[in-house]
Amino acid sequence: MFRVVQVGDIHYSDAENFASPVDAKDPGFPAALRDSIGTAPLQAVFRSLSHLLDTGAVDFVTFMGDFTTRGDAAALGDCARYIRRLFAEAWPAAGHPDCKLIIGNHDVDRRLDPDTDVRFENINDVLGAAGFAPASILAPCESVLRGDDASEVRIFGVNSCRGCGQLRLLGSIVEKHAGPAIRKLMAEGGTSDELEELYEQIDTPAIDEHTIAMLDAILSNLGETVLPVICAHHNLLPQAMPRIAPYSELINGGAIRTALLNLDRPIIYLHGHLHTSPIEVIRVPDRTRSAIISISAPLFRDGYNVIEIAFSRDSVPLGCRVIAHRLDGSQCRIAASSVIPAWTAAEGLRLATAQARELMKILDPDKVTTRGDLLVQLGWPSGELDDALTELRWLGALEIPNYDRPSIHWRVTRSI
Ligand SMILES: [Fe+2]
Repeated sequence: MFRVVQVGDIHYSDAENFASPVDAKDPGFPAALRDSIGTAPLQAVFRSLSHLLDTGAVDFVTFMGDFTTRGDAAALGDCARYIRRLFAEAWPAAGHPDCKLIIGNHDVDRRLDPDTDVRFENINDVLGAAGFAPASILAPCESVLRGDDASEVRIFGVNSCRGCGQLRLLGSIVEKHAGPAIRKLMAEGGTSDELEELYEQIDTPAIDEHTIAMLDAILSNLGETVLPVICAHHNLLPQAMPRIAPYSELINGGAIRTALLNLDRPIIYLHGHLHTSPIEVIRVPDRTRSAIISISAPLFRDGYNVIEIAFSRDSVPLGCRVIAHRLDGSQCRIAASSVIPAWTAAEGLRLATAQARELMKILDPDKVTTRGDLLVQLGWPSGELDDALTELRWLGALEIPNYDRPSIHWRVTRSI
């Protein structure tokens, strides 16, 4: 089991991060006392994550970009130094997780030359000064988590902001009419609303085709005991809220989706950008092993996700559980958890361990069986039986309604 924390957009300079959570209806109440009875949202979530990392239960932390709001290097530096406090002084430190940062559209300074990588290198300079490894600019940045057996999680940071600040990608007609006004706005500074429009609506989220080709080449060569996790700022799929804007979605999201599905293997895709946290699974019928498990992180001031990634005794990835830690008043608590199998039930059974397949043969589909009955019937060591039951649960082949209780209480129903 690996545990990866997914931290969404921080937008460190937003006033809402530090707003008092106290419903203060008395204008004469002392501000210092008001602040002492309620922790600001960002600080409450930061404290929760910091405690979690101190327990040693986390293997890796991913940040989804948008550390700042308008490409402001000073605010980006403030944010980088702030989140650096979550980690040990030196990398890598025993018992402390490593992390990966990626670039968000709001981190890009649009006043810099949009035709070169300077606007990304500047971001990496600031992140580097705070002690972080550089974010991906063109080549995917890879980190490897290794289990005691052959199981591996490979985490790839990808830059989905190649087109951010690229006026020419708006198309020649739009550039001809809107370009001068946008350049004037950037040079003279605009209102918050005008700049917000520039960063969110007149933007061109895109992943460079060289990045896609490099990712494709790396992922094609990974064995079956490896689960890839791709981190990019933008979502692959359009969302529930209809959006009328020139380029609000990843303009080559379909190409990336197709490339990933053609690999015919489960892949976890982590992103931010939406400020909400939908979980979506994409499968296609002609690639029976393919799945893109897309997980969005909320704004960091609203909480974060812990993603548990499970493997079988044969080191086959089984799926993930997304545990939503969300702010509730001044406390961050577990609000929900969702289990997402890596495979369809039929495909999962083909990849199941010998113990799991043997166990399936004796389970009666019409009967509730207790773990005690199974121990007597099979005569296996209890740890082996628990692993087989857990594996089949991940594969969607059986249900254990009281799984959260100690395993001696488990009741098992076959579901396929
Ligand atoms: Fe954002």
